[in-house]
Amino acid sequence: MNIFDSLEVNRFKQDPRVREGKKLLIEALQEHQKRLTQVKPPKEELLQSYYDTLALFHSIRGGKLYYPYLGSGWGHGPLVELLDGSVKYDMISGIGPHFWGHSHPELTEVALDAALADTIMQGHLQQNQDAYTLSNLLVKSSGLDHCFLSSSGAMANENALKLAFHRHFPADRILAFDHCFMGRTLALAQITDKPSFREGLPLHLSVDYIPFYHANYPEESTKLSVNTLKQHLNRYPKRHAVMCFELIQGEGGFNVGTRDYFVALMEVLKEHQVAIFVDEIQTFGRTTELFAYQYFGLESYVDLVSIGKLSQVCATLFKSDYKPKPGLLSQTFTSSSIALKASCWILQHLLSDRFFGPDGTLARLHGRFVEHFSRIETDDSTLVQGPYGIGSMIAFTPFGGEHSQVEKFVQKLFEAGVISFVAGSHPTRVRLLIPAGVMTLDDVDAVMQIIEKTLKT
Ligand SMILES: Cc1ncc(COP(=O)(O)O)c(C=O)c1O
Repeated sequence: MNIFDSLEVNRFKQDPRVREGKKLLIEALQEHQKRLTQVKPPKEELLQSYYDTLALFHSIRGGKLYYPYLGSGWGHGPLVELLDGSVKYDMISGIGPHFWGHSHPELTEVALDAALADTIMQGHLQQNQDAYTLSNLLVKSSGLDHCFLSSSGAMANENALKLAFHRHFPADRILAFDHCFMGRTLALAQITDKPSFREGLPLHLSVDYIPFYHANYPEESTKLSVNTLKQHLNRYPKRHAVMCFELIQGEGGFNVGTRDYFVALMEVLKEHQVAIFVDEIQTFGRTTELFAYQYFGLESYVDLVSIGKLSQVCATLFKSDYKPKPGLLSQTFTSSSIALKASCWILQHLLSDRFFGPDGTLARLHGRFVEHFSRIETDDSTLVQGPYGIGSMIAFTPFGGEHSQVEKFVQKLFEAGVISFVAGSHPTRVRLLIPAGVMTLDDVDAVMQIIEKTLKT
């Protein structure tokens, strides 16, 4: 018997009416999902009202959506239904979070539990056991000492930067990679290497950039990066608090570094006592290890890590040297009860379900994409190059990566029933963040059939 069994909440949860209600809902969900098995075009009779609603939405939010996408709130695994009646393969998963696809029965059950919780949001003064369970799972699986939860990737990154600045005061400069993406708050828009994201904003952080690894020139690019790092460190002695790493550049186009490359930089950073901060908002759970720094074998170097997207609740993980003084980190919302409960479920399943490792689900799904792309590239090398990325991060370069053609291609692909997104520039790539938690090899074949047909029309 659990010592908490005598709590009133457990009497409520064990009430046969509650248990039966949940069971019936999940049964109904699964029964109705049987009707959603393939891509479908929009329904003619819904189109006018769909596009009218979209136009109103664009005007209310003050800008157009990237895709004409309004979900109906219903789906089945990697398939999602839109309000126009169409059904599409969701291969971008909300740019990362929907690793378990749409309307997942077990996550729906978790959501029902959360709906029965006492509050919708949990926050600093009042957190439930979920926050403890999640933090504990993250600390144990990361090997880091502490975990601070938050509700967006940007906030997790801001918190990591604060910890680094506090620890290394008065050092006030940041090191980052060319083409990195860290988020869009006022501070992060200055680090994110996209001029248009910081246009018209005040600049008050000092950021020094380092070119990223180039797979075609491993030795030369490593030398160039290390030399550039040393130049910055020599130009501003003892002024750098932290270097931000994306081990696989997400928005930058799924550019992948190597262990040797990262170690070469990290050794120099350690020598100069600069904090090593790995932004895993996009990579967490998507390589063939839970954390990308584990995939690259960088455990002994990392001081701070941020996660988000797939984890639903975001977090900053850090070594005890970086422990904050009271008041440095706080917020009204840690997250919603549903996100916290879902996050615990997700972590437990990722850690137990054989997703990772060289023969895990992620590697097998990736391998199937590689087979398809190799075949298409062998037939016609001008059509597509790739794929790039690791595990459930897959990118390819159609039409030589010419930006406007790739933009047109992803819109055409959307109409054909596969949702993807662009990444990088020179070349611009198509990127997929697949819902690997629910995808089968047959799904990969069906998606690739649509991609190939769209490439050829
Ligand atoms: C690497 C990386 N860092 C930070 C962020 C920002 O996360 P959020 O959009 O949850 O604030 C993103 C989002 O795409 C990301 O890919």
